[in-house]
Amino acid sequence: MTGPVRSLAARYYTDPEVFRLETEGLLARTWQFGCHTSDLPEPGAYATFEIAGESLFAIRGHDDRIRVFYNVCQHRAHQLVSGRGSTRVVVCPYHAWTYELTGELRAGPNIGAIKAFDKSTVCLSEVRAEEFLGFLFVNLDADAAPMDDWFPNARAELTEWVPNWADLRPHEWVEIPENCNWKVSVENYSECYHCALNHPTFASSVVKPETYDIQPQGKCLRHTTECQGLDDMTYDIRSGFEHFDEYSSWFLWPMFSFQVYPGNILNTYHWRAVDTDHVVVWRGWYSPEEADDATISQLAAQDRETTVAEDIHLVESVQRGLSSRGYRPGPLVIDPCGGVNSEHPIMHLQKWMREAVDLDR
Ligand code: FES
Ligand SMILES: [Fe+2]
Repeated sequence: MTGPVRSLAARYYTDPEVFRLETEGLLARTWQFGCHTSDLPEPGAYATFEIAGESLFAIRGHDDRIRVFYNVCQHRAHQLVSGRGSTRVVVCPYHAWTYELTGELRAGPNIGAIKAFDKSTVCLSEVRAEEFLGFLFVNLDADAAPMDDWFPNARAELTEWVPNWADLRPHEWVEIPENCNWKVSVENYSECYHCALNHPTFASSVVKPETYDIQPQGKCLRHTTECQGLDDMTYDIRSGFEHFDEYSSWFLWPMFSFQVYPGNILNTYHWRAVDTDHVVVWRGWYSPEEADDATISQLAAQDRETTVAEDIHLVESVQRGLSSRGYRPGPLVIDPCGGVNSEHPIMHLQKWMREAVDLDR
């Protein structure tokens, strides 16, 4: 007889060797968020970011295409750019080799003196990138399946929930350092079994917990719920768009989530794993450039003071507990009917988490 499904062994959250395997394996072959395409408004605009311990930069070409490169000069390995900016060509600060916005080597002081050297053989190393509703995602695995295979229907659904996505710009960013393994934070995000007890504001004025459910959709975990009655909402949600009275979220394994609050308000979670027991969660809020942003600011503040603050205590306590000699992984509460009081999404997540690490052993 098989017993209940048990939670993942504690060492997955506490062992630095597991974190190393995840950084070199999982993070290097999954789709990771790089930047918002509005950070790259014109040809030559660039933005740097780090994925799986690698420094990368995205840059818009004259053909309007955004390309992503490893941030390393092909001469003697100096870093090419830092932060954000705009440039006509990419110039290495070490010996001034210059590259086109397409990554081809353009020129370098005295390189004509190199015998039998064909400069067309030198090009910056390009990385797979995809635009997804104005968000740029990157995958270090050249053979990775496209995002639509990983996350079936997510793009089409999000387009329906956020019909004005092309007008949206990052409006507020909240950076939340948490003293826990990234998986503890992601799991906490992926079940609402703890919501009634720990998130009174979220449960009473954003969503209707009895209608909450989370179901896997490929490697996406799809959260759906109706919102509370219009009178119980803390802001006016009448956006004029369809789905205005629903809350929905699309968690894209392993470290990003799109959420749409009632009123079709887009916001995101982006986990950045720092080490075995530290993660930084970036909460992003988006609004059209010309919009009155008071509602978004109010929502971002309400969220930071309630749900976010409440979750930090939970995840940090769990991380301490996972190091306890007295902990043996307990059974997950899996209700065949799903619903808010079921931990079936944790079962799916922990399967992916286990596979990601065991594959590389
Ligand atoms: S290392 Fe970049 S020009 Fe020499
Ligand atoms: Fe929570």
